[in-house]
Amino acid sequence: MSRSAHPAGPRHADVLPEGHYTAPATDLNVLDEKVWSRTVTRDDAGALTVGGIEVARLAEEFGTPAYFLDESDFRARCRAWADAFGPDADVFYAGKAFLSRAVVRWLTEEGLNLDVCSGGELATALDAGMPADRIAFHGNNKTVAEIERAVEAGVGRIVLDSFQEIVRVSHIAQRLGTRQRVQIRVTVGVEAHTHEFIATAHEDQKFGIALADGQAAEAVRRALTLDGLELIGIHSHIGSQIFDMAGFEVSARRVVQLLAAVRDEHGVELPEIDLGGGLGIAYTSEDDPREPHEIAKALSDIVTRECEAAGLATPRISVEPGRAIVGPTAFTLYEVGTIKPLEGLRTYVSVDGGMSDNIRTALYDAEYSVALVSRSSDAEPMLVRVVGKHCESGDIVVKDAFLPADLAPGDLIAVPATGAYCRSMASNYNHALRPPVVAVRDGRAHVIVRRETEEDLLRLDVG
Ligand code: LLP
Repeated sequence: MSRSAHPAGPRHADVLPEGHYTAPATDLNVLDEKVWSRTVTRDDAGALTVGGIEVARLAEEFGTPAYFLDESDFRARCRAWADAFGPDADVFYAGKAFLSRAVVRWLTEEGLNLDVCSGGELATALDAGMPADRIAFHGNNKTVAEIERAVEAGVGRIVLDSFQEIVRVSHIAQRLGTRQRVQIRVTVGVEAHTHEFIATAHEDQKFGIALADGQAAEAVRRALTLDGLELIGIHSHIGSQIFDMAGFEVSARRVVQLLAAVRDEHGVELPEIDLGGGLGIAYTSEDDPREPHEIAKALSDIVTRECEAAGLATPRISVEPGRAIVGPTAFTLYEVGTIKPLEGLRTYVSVDGGMSDNIRTALYDAEYSVALVSRSSDAEPMLVRVVGKHCESGDIVVKDAFLPADLAPGDLIAVPATGAYCRSMASNYNHALRPPVVAVRDGRAHVIVRRETEEDLLRLDVG
């Protein structure tokens, strides 16, 4: 499809649904730096550039849809987290947000550790050279083969998620003639203020062992007595896309109380606590995320205070941010296809991707913003819904946003903050080919995960 501007774009700024939506006060050409990665800017002609490269050039070379990941921003965020927590704490990047060999190399170089939660993520980490002792292995139902692989590789810790797993890891470590460092994941009973599907600290869900009814204390009892295990600490992850530190405070307090109970019962002071990930990022201008140094200070203050009160030495703290590191570093670039104005309602703008490259809107009601990026425009704002090309009406990428009313087929639009849980949750629905991830840095762009091809699809189809 040509990228030349369409002469007669629809004009619907005057037909916004009554009451609900007011056109933004800000100029649509202005990029809110909260939601865009650090090297994104508009050039003199009004086109968006990232890492010094103009989007039209990127689209020409790599096609659309595609994720463009700002490597220097990714590295800067890794450093910000590592610096904020300092040498007495550990930052584990949560690979589920987005993992590839290049990402593993960047993490290794920037001194971060890595949390993996499947054999596939573990294989990627090891293949790309992450030292095994910097890997934490998670999951509520790790297979025996996965546990064997992790123990054999010498991962730094396995986070035990159930009573069965305590026994399983103990047996496997003994069989392999080693002692595996482990943490126990507990559910602290916090109601995190986030979408139900990504809240993980309440008790009625699949993860972890409950603190409330003494289960966690019993898990510690067993882990301390079984051979093959070295219990190094307690783990708690309360959920994702959380802004309010209150949940982390409650979680830290309850975990420290467990450490004190363990000390009282067993005379053992467990040396580590992991408070998980889940720190929120800005998807739209409405979101106000905290900086890593504020988070680090808040967490270390509460742990130190609670430990002092309990007469415990302060344990080594670790955290597992995924989204907060990679989320803001990438945007998805789409080409506008069909445009369907609905009088009195909104304009549907279809792009060449959709729920196969971003399922978060359909799955969690996630909110995103969007901008016209191949040019600037002085046209009036029009209320749009950005939708994909899949055979499903819930195939929505951005539910409500404003784009200039002269938007036309062939324009490039970009959805920022898609670095986390978009490529990693991408699907082949309707036999869509999953988009590439292109790393951009200092005027250079290179593919780190290539676009799928029809051959890739057909290769698996062996019937
Ligand atoms: N640690 C553990 C044990 C986790 O389960 C998770 C996320 C993290 C760390 C990283 O959380 P983050 O900092 O990235 O929020 N697909 C959902 C998110 C699921 C998160 C699962 N666990 C989404 O797109 O929002």
